[in-house]
Amino acid sequence: MTTPYLVLTVTLIFIFLFIYMVSTVVWGKVVSANDKKAELNKEETRRDFLHVSTITIGAIGSATFMWPFIKSMNPAEDTLALGTTEVDISNIDEGQSITVTWRGKPVFIRKRSKEDIAEAKNAKLSNLPDPEKDSDRVKKEDWLILVGVCTHLGCVPSGQKVSDKKGDFNGWYCPCHGSHYDTSGRIRKGPAPDNMEVPPYKFLNDNTVLIG
Ligand code: FES
Repeated sequence: MTTPYLVLTVTLIFIFLFIYMVSTVVWGKVVSANDKKAELNKEETRRDFLHVSTITIGAIGSATFMWPFIKSMNPAEDTLALGTTEVDISNIDEGQSITVTWRGKPVFIRKRSKEDIAEAKNAKLSNLPDPEKDSDRVKKEDWLILVGVCTHLGCVPSGQKVSDKKGDFNGWYCPCHGSHYDTSGRIRKGPAPDNMEVPPYKFLNDNTVLIG
């Protein structure tokens, strides 16, 4: 029997015992009365006790029966681990990018230069097809993390290597149909309708990021 299962069963048994004790005290008081009214109350209390006991036993039985099914609905720990990717970012220099895989998709991690950051911040929202502030897309200004998939038809844009074509906005360029993304991963030109997606992530410390 697993620990939560055991705890649940013991808790329910304690609840049952508590109800039993309270009912017994009440019933005892009724027994000590002599008049007919007390006899009637005694009968009522006995019925109440039987009623509560039946419900409690039913609840214990149902919970005991259901617990393994409820527990089996939670994702297994190995499944949860597959949903995250931990990345060491300590060796990425300014202006460099790396690609990692998260849930089967490429994720771009770029350590942005000061110029990259300035370009991303200075873009006018009114000029963007999918207006989004740079500050809403990053947790730390120098780190940009994106799902590296073009939002047009799903190609992987180029721009990860220093020698790659990065498009007119110095971010990424999708060679499939010519979409240009800026240094915040926002669509600026071409058929892609949306900015590249920012995945859920958090910094575990200055050198490690957890994606997912
Ligand atoms: S898939 Fe990228 S522009 Fe079409």
